[in-house]
Amino acid sequence: MTSETHAVPGIDYNRAFAQAIDRLHAEGRYRVFIDILRNKGMFPNARCFAGHNGPKPITVWCSNDYLAMGQHPKVIAAMEEALHDVGAGSGGTRNIGGTTHYHIDLETELADLHEKQGALLFTSGYVSNEATLSTLAKILPGCIIFSDELNHASMIAGIRNSGCEKRVFRHNDVEHLEALLAAEDPAVPKLIAFESVYSMDGDIAPIHAICDLADKYNALTYLDEVHAVGMYGPRGGGISERDDAARRLTIIEGTLGKAFGVMGGYIAADKQIIDVIRSYAPGFIFTTSLSPVLVSGALASVRHLKSSSAERDGQQAAAAKLKAMMRDAGLPVMDSTTHIVPLMVGDPVKAKRISDILLAEYGVYVQPINFPTVPRGTERLRFTPGPAHDEAMMTELVEALVEIWDRMELKLAA
Ligand SMILES: Cc1ncc(COP(=O)(O)O)c(C=O)c1O
Repeated sequence: MTSETHAVPGIDYNRAFAQAIDRLHAEGRYRVFIDILRNKGMFPNARCFAGHNGPKPITVWCSNDYLAMGQHPKVIAAMEEALHDVGAGSGGTRNIGGTTHYHIDLETELADLHEKQGALLFTSGYVSNEATLSTLAKILPGCIIFSDELNHASMIAGIRNSGCEKRVFRHNDVEHLEALLAAEDPAVPKLIAFESVYSMDGDIAPIHAICDLADKYNALTYLDEVHAVGMYGPRGGGISERDDAARRLTIIEGTLGKAFGVMGGYIAADKQIIDVIRSYAPGFIFTTSLSPVLVSGALASVRHLKSSSAERDGQQAAAAKLKAMMRDAGLPVMDSTTHIVPLMVGDPVKAKRISDILLAEYGVYVQPINFPTVPRGTERLRFTPGPAHDEAMMTELVEALVEIWDRMELKLAA
């Protein structure tokens, strides 16, 4: 469409669009997608097509395929087998032809993983949060949702779309949560929504303390375990499994797109709640179900990680090693008790510049994380080392970072 087509007297649409993009450039947070291809079976090695002729080898340091399960031979074989057995897509919504036997098997597997009676698949973790939270609160007239201030955008969207009242409690602050709960009418339905691992800072919620409050004030609980499933707990059931809290939670939500390496989202809960969401949530009902190929891959991944801890152990060791190496080099690595390694920059333009230099000069790919994903002034680089990142890669990375810190006259700790 040409600009003439949009030229309606009194309304300059193109100008409004251009100004919106200009604002992002001015704040240094205009997003540039980096065009890559991962090399199957060789993760974290990949090829990059950005800014030069032909593909250039790079090391990926910011993938949420945390355990490289997207490259695992069992997962790939399961997907190939499903593709050749039943074809590409599901061909329908869950209600109209799109419930395959793979979907049923995976839901059974996920219910068992989280010690719940049932589970329900969605096309992504985002959709599972939005659809479940918006529907649940509508079913409970007068419901108030108590939401951690750092909850993910998909939970915030679900809460907003429910149209219910919300109270935001300070991040992981149980006292503040209790004050907010105590201020409400005991007869009003309540739901506490929070995450286990907060993926930008890498800290963990006090699940038992929050469940204690839920018991005391008769509230339901909704826990997003997107950055923990597959990675924590003896079978990969997340922090709620690790802390033996799964049975205390009303709903556990997870993704199949990060540690499980494929795509899709889910909730696990008792049968009645699953039945309600299945029956009322537009985001579940009115959309084509996940491809059986994806579901088959996810099933293989969930099953593998239930019985293998090698990937989890490798990831924890790699994260601890990288944090120690960064700290020893004086780099401003943030305190994180998890597998996530955030390096504070505090400025969007500098964060982008560091990331650009790493990619162009060192073949290191790490995406800068800017507002609104993190608060302004806390812009950072977020590293996600996994079992396949070896010591030589870490040494190369830390040396590159120190050189860039020097070059840009940023502060290194003594
Ligand atoms: C905390 C949290 N919840 C949900 C999601 C959405 O999951 P998915 O990528 O499967 O849509 C994300 C994605 O980054 C997330 O960080």
